[in-house]
Amino acid sequence: MKKVFVTGAAGFIGFHVSQTLIARGHQVFGIDNFNDYYSVALKRNRAQILKEMGCTVENVDLADFNQLKKSFEDFEPTHVVHLAAQAGVRYSLKNPNAYVQSNLVGFTYLLEILKDYPQILTLFASSSSVYGDNQKVPFSESDLTDQPTNLYGATKKANELMAYSYHSLYNLRLLGMRFFTVYGPWGRPDMAYYLFSKAILEKRPIDVFEGEGIKRDFTYIDDIVSGILSALDSSYNFEVFNFGNNKPVFLNDFISTLEEVLGQKAIKNYLPQAKGDMLVTYADITKSENLLGYKPSTDLKEGLLNFIQWFAPRCQGKKLKLQASE
Ligand SMILES: NC(=O)c1ccc[n+]([C@@H]2O[C@H](COP(=O)([O-])OP(=O)(O)OC[C@H]3O[C@@H](n4cnc5c(N)ncnc54)[C@H](O)[C@@H]3O)[C@@H](O)[C@H]2O)c1
Repeated sequence: MKKVFVTGAAGFIGFHVSQTLIARGHQVFGIDNFNDYYSVALKRNRAQILKEMGCTVENVDLADFNQLKKSFEDFEPTHVVHLAAQAGVRYSLKNPNAYVQSNLVGFTYLLEILKDYPQILTLFASSSSVYGDNQKVPFSESDLTDQPTNLYGATKKANELMAYSYHSLYNLRLLGMRFFTVYGPWGRPDMAYYLFSKAILEKRPIDVFEGEGIKRDFTYIDDIVSGILSALDSSYNFEVFNFGNNKPVFLNDFISTLEEVLGQKAIKNYLPQAKGDMLVTYADITKSENLLGYKPSTDLKEGLLNFIQWFAPRCQGKKLKLQASE
């Protein structure tokens, strides 16, 4: 049995990883600061489900060193899955300080704590955003990642560099996971698939930023969780992995699939490409496949159906309740 310290356990990916770990008989202790970047009620609902499964999610801020160290040391983990971060590309233009606090200060504190526990295997979330202006597709782990096009991507790249330094200095075991547009039930209300679904169901227009050229490598949550679990079982000491789907979809094709799943047409409001957004994300997953046996298997339509089955009952006819409770 593993004892896994999950940061960001009330978040989208943290919630799913924690659920799966508990279901497989591992002990999980979660932390989250329940910030209001998106619905706090949604985070509380996820934490409540984890609580009912026997897992505590303590209200701890990564940027509070003493609090973080205490909850970490009280639990005595064998493994760490570090997912807490300020996510989102566009918000990084509005509130850069949130990224500095959670992604840079918070990550430094975690590394400083881990320094005394070099035997612990730590997985940490990076992002496809590190590829920024990289022109070569698909994106491979060996490609240039020195030109992130937004501060979010820059903090994730910084995390990878900081992790390498601590690995080199103190032999810490750190595996970085570059996630590509993760979607699914209990997903994030700030992401396009969630915003589009809500608007279409409510018969409102959707904002499509430069729909013609944009491509995203949508990756279903269960495939991501499988990748994380394989990485937790591995014996690597320092690696960075792409966790994508390897099947990028044009935004307009994505919207057509969503319309098909919802049985409703979207009203599209085309806008110029948003500042800081990448045009294409496309993961080369050869390394993850070879080293971890990572093999995403959920196609977009199936994944969107699962999302809509969770989302539609919460949205339809319950607009006010949705806003009030989630
Ligand atoms: N979902 C995606 O498509 C995607 C893509 C690339 C990378 N990622 C990365 O994966 C990780 C998980 O993403 P997610 O989609 O679950 O996001 P999320 O926002 O749902 O989860 C992150 C959680 O971390 C918590 N948190 C933020 N700052 C904190 C702090 N200072 N202290 C304690 N908790 C804090 C938040 O409250 C939230 O619950 C993040 O690091 C994110 O950057 C996600």
